[in-house]
Amino acid sequence: MAGITTYTLFIVCIVSTGVITHTQAGSKSCEARMFSEDSVVCECNATHCDSVGKVTLPAVGQFVTFLTSEAGSRLHQEQGQVQRNSTGAAVRITLVPQQKYQHVQGFGGAMTDAAAINILSLSTGAQDQLLRQYFSPEGIEYNTVRVPMASCDFSTRLYTYADTPGDYSLLNFTLAKEDTHMKIPLLQQAQALSPRPLSLLASAWSSPAWMKTNGELMGKGSLKGKPGGKEYKAWAQYYIMFLEEYEKHNISFWALSTGNEPTSGELTNYSFQALGFTPEQQRDWLALDLGPALHSSPYAKTRVIILDDQRLLLPHWAKVVLSDIHAARYVHGIGVHWYWDRYAPADITLGTTHDLYPEYFLFGTEACSGWSSLDRGVRLGSWRRAEDYAHDIIEDLNNHVTGWMDWNLALDLGGGPNWAKNFVDSSIIVDSSRDVFYKQPTFYSMAHFSKFLWEGSQRVGVSVSKHSALETTAFIRPDGSAVLIVLNRSDVEVPFEVWDQTVGFLPSSAPPHSLLTLLWKRS
Ligand SMILES: *[C@@H]1O[C@H](CO)[C@@H](O)[C@H](O)[C@H]1NC(C)=O
Ligand SMILES: *[C@@H]1O[C@H](CO)[C@@H](O)[C@H](O)[C@H]1NC(C)=O
Ligand SMILES: *[C@@H]1O[C@H](CO)[C@@H](O)[C@H](O)[C@H]1NC(C)=O
Ligand SMILES: *[C@@H]1O[C@H](CO)[C@@H](O)[C@H](O)[C@H]1NC(C)=O
Ligand SMILES: *[C@@H]1O[C@H](CO)[C@@H](O)[C@H](O)[C@H]1NC(C)=O
Ligand SMILES: *[C@@H]1O[C@H](CO)[C@@H](O)[C@H](O)[C@H]1NC(C)=O
Repeated sequence: MAGITTYTLFIVCIVSTGVITHTQAGSKSCEARMFSEDSVVCECNATHCDSVGKVTLPAVGQFVTFLTSEAGSRLHQEQGQVQRNSTGAAVRITLVPQQKYQHVQGFGGAMTDAAAINILSLSTGAQDQLLRQYFSPEGIEYNTVRVPMASCDFSTRLYTYADTPGDYSLLNFTLAKEDTHMKIPLLQQAQALSPRPLSLLASAWSSPAWMKTNGELMGKGSLKGKPGGKEYKAWAQYYIMFLEEYEKHNISFWALSTGNEPTSGELTNYSFQALGFTPEQQRDWLALDLGPALHSSPYAKTRVIILDDQRLLLPHWAKVVLSDIHAARYVHGIGVHWYWDRYAPADITLGTTHDLYPEYFLFGTEACSGWSSLDRGVRLGSWRRAEDYAHDIIEDLNNHVTGWMDWNLALDLGGGPNWAKNFVDSSIIVDSSRDVFYKQPTFYSMAHFSKFLWEGSQRVGVSVSKHSALETTAFIRPDGSAVLIVLNRSDVEVPFEVWDQTVGFLPSSAPPHSLLTLLWKRS
């Protein structure tokens, strides 16, 4: 989280108008509730939650569309006929499968302490329903989860796993009750609901305070000494011990990051847990400590993701770390956060980095709404925030990013808990007093990608006739089927057609302020 301000400038009044409308959403419909925003949330409890169910691929000659809109559609499914001839629509989107780009790794969210506390504040029936929404085949099929190592701002206290001063050998390393009693049982349940192994990503916010120049978990501070020194070595070993301890609970990690937002502990007197690294320090720590420690451990196959910070820092950060072969050989990917994306054009950050280092994958490791001091906290039913998500995901995917992760999987009505009062929004907001949770419009933004873009799907080219600000991205899945996602952020409905030379023309239309996923079999 890049929120430096901890003061809430706007107190978001959540006023239920009590209006309940029903909208169709496939096999189970959305129990829509309107609060004070421009669109609805879908209310879920232990026995009811909207779901499209398992999606089956239609036969050649037919296609399915899923529509989510400001007007209230939520993954509304329709079937269409592929046409031999053009429909004459002004906008034509041509699939260009011979242009091939990156393969999808996946989509997901973060199991923070706050997310776990909120999920566990529901009855077991509602907890199960919530986890199903994210991880099961009837849900939106998340396959990645980011797991903070020890506390971050979305915790109720400050702790690490090795808070005994001077414990360089980490003899007192121990997981917290937040891990053993909350996050681990929920991760095990999530895994049990998912038909495929979940890819977990571990990120640490701060090292133990005694390893740091400022002697505190928060604020401006970095590891004492130099890379290769005893603090840097102990901090590398801490990662190995974390992987070992989770393994004892049958939880293994796909990847780890070199640390959440290293610039926040470097450049500012940060208001919550942070550990500063310059790119040069990160490079040397990787080369001298973390890389060798991981390589000689049983976790040598764990992917290493550098940066885990704003893409504004690219390509500079990647150049410093990856132009050094001693560091680069331990690295697999580059993690980016979305917070300053509007000041960092995708092509000169992501695009340039990909061109320089095509063998390293790019991954969106954190994003949330409601983080800026001008637009703080939870907004139940905000459509603009759904568009912000879809816009950023499409832009990232069109610039070589292989996956995109939401921040907290669930928060409470106040956007917490967060010990530093850095309250933000989430795709699922829990109201434990009523034993319900609300699926925000951003939940469906995630769904339009996560449910359809299976791991291994490959992005292909799209060419759009006419000058249209229409935002699109297209993929061929491992089974050969095609997925096209279309975002219309304007006030007008525009009919369009898709041209796939292997099957023909797919007539469709993008309603004002809508997100569409089209799915069809190619021949
Ligand atoms: C759950 O939601 C459904 C649909 O709104 C409703 O019919 C049912 O009574 C709710 N169950 C509980 C326990 O509130
Ligand atoms: C499709 O276009 C061809 C050539 O333009 C025309 O001959 C044919 O009648 C059209 N078919 C349909 C079903 O409109
Ligand atoms: C650290 O571990 C040692 C030996 O295992 C134990 O004697 C000591 O009490 C522990 N200290 C703390 C602060 O937990
Ligand atoms: C881990 O998995 C093994 C084998 O499936 C099982 O015997 C063991 O009980 C599991 N341990 C935990 C902590 O879940
Ligand atoms: C950092 O901020 C804290 C309060 O948030 C303050 O107590 C401390 O003195 C500040 N440190 C520096 C170096 O400015
Ligand atoms: C969707 O919105 C864009 C502006 O964001 C607009 O140019 C376009 O015509 C709209 N409709 C379609 C189908 O693209």
